[in-house]
Amino acid sequence: MTTTFEINGRKVTLKAPDDSPLLWAIRDEVGLTGTKFGCGIGMCGACTVHLNGEAVRSCVTPLSTVAGAKITTIEGLDPKGAHPLQTAWIEAQAPQCGYCQSGQIMQAAALLKATPHPTDAEINDTMNGNLCRCMAYVRIKKAIKLAAAGPQGSKA
Ligand code: FES
Ligand code: FES
Repeated sequence: MTTTFEINGRKVTLKAPDDSPLLWAIRDEVGLTGTKFGCGIGMCGACTVHLNGEAVRSCVTPLSTVAGAKITTIEGLDPKGAHPLQTAWIEAQAPQCGYCQSGQIMQAAALLKATPHPTDAEINDTMNGNLCRCMAYVRIKKAIKLAAAGPQGSKA
C-alpha cells in the first residue's frame, strides 16, 4: 500500500503496510532520526511529532491515518533550529542525555501554539506524559516558561 503525506513541507510517498507505525516511516523510510523510539506503546513521548499541528505519539500512529496529512518533526520545527523553545532549551541547559528532548520540545511546541502563556498547571498537565529518565523536568519546565515569556522575559 502507498501512503502520501507531507513531512516538514516535503511531499513523500511511501510503500509500506497500512499499520506501519509513523515513527518507522519517519526514521527508516524518510531518514529523519531526530524523533526517538522509547517505549513503542504510546507511554513515554519520545516519539512525539505534530500531525496537522497536534502533538501525537508517532509510535502508535498507523501510517494509514496520515494520508494527506502534514507532519512536522523536530527537524522541521524551525528552518534554522531557532524556534523560541529551542533557544530557551539552550538557555536553560535543559537536556542531560538528550534522548527524550525532541519529544519534549514537540509536545511543548504544540502547547505554546494553542496556549502561548500557559499556567504552571497547564504545563504540568500537557507535559505529564513525556518521560525523562534523566529527571530533567525542572529545567524542561524552566525552558518552556522562558519561551512563553519571550526574549524580554528570558532576560528578566
Ligand atoms: S516511543 Fe512513542 S510514546 Fe514511547
Ligand atoms: S534528558 Fe535523558 S531521558 Fe531526558
